Amino acid sequence: MKINKCLFPVAGYGTRFLPATKAIPKEMLPILTKPLIQYGVEEAISAEIYNLALVTNVNKKAIKNYFEAHAEIENSIKGTAKENLLDEVNYISERCDFSYINQEQMLGLGHAINTSKPLIGSDAFAVILPDDLCITQGDTVLMQMSKLHNQYPDSCIVAIEEVPFEEVYKYGIIDGKLIAGSTDVYQVNNMVEKPNKEDAPSNLAIIGRYILTPEIFSVLEKTQPDKNGEIQITDALMTLAKQGKVIAYKFQGKRYDCGSIKGFLAATNYLAKWHNLL
Ligand code: UTP
Repeated sequence: MKINKCLFPVAGYGTRFLPATKAIPKEMLPILTKPLIQYGVEEAISAEIYNLALVTNVNKKAIKNYFEAHAEIENSIKGTAKENLLDEVNYISERCDFSYINQEQMLGLGHAINTSKPLIGSDAFAVILPDDLCITQGDTVLMQMSKLHNQYPDSCIVAIEEVPFEEVYKYGIIDGKLIAGSTDVYQVNNMVEKPNKEDAPSNLAIIGRYILTPEIFSVLEKTQPDKNGEIQITDALMTLAKQGKVIAYKFQGKRYDCGSIKGFLAATNYLAKWHNLL
């Protein structure tokens, strides 16, 4: 029942961060000294997940390089005050197994997840979108969701947060009912990708943390592209929601949308203050 694999779909172009993302993958942009991908990987490790699968593309070699040893730098800082600066990333490299697959065409998050099928196997798996940086006081969001997976092993689980109705057009929005006796777990009946404020069934928005059952692949296979030609994970999950197989979880903690400039700055600011740098 334990989740053993975490998927990072990181093949997107990150156009909101152009021109930087012309040469640097969005996931390599640092919040203080650590790139976004590292915060995501640390969250997977917090949930004791050490098998990490990445959907990338040919222009994102920097991500793979990042998790490999760099003998020259290591030798140059050995015995100096900077010696420990690579410890956090080396710890990850030594501990985790990485696998990679290329998404040939950027046809949406649903397509990226379907591309990962050869890396995943036949068990439920976690998904982290590293541009959603989640900061929590206690358990990380993926730890919280893993506990819920033990209760609902046959359901997909999406993390949700309340957003202002003015912003629902940016998200997948759920239509669901609180499960009896719970204040944060919803049975999802339906979901809508990027609705208008008027058509939104709620203001509960799906953020970049999922636990998916392998059934998602057969559903994604049949999911039609949207009007922009992209295959949306929300559309595939909607099919499963209508069969009663999706749970939404209002997590404890704060999410920063680091795929947007404002969110990236807010996260930087928060962590800088936390480290007494501001
Ligand atoms: P986003 O839409 O936030 O990322 O996708 P993007 O396309 O890279 O960014 P912008 O909007 O152009 O600035 C959410 C996640 O899905 C991945 C992205 O890498 C990101 O982690 N994704 C998206 C893929 O892996 N493949 C795709 O075809 C689309």
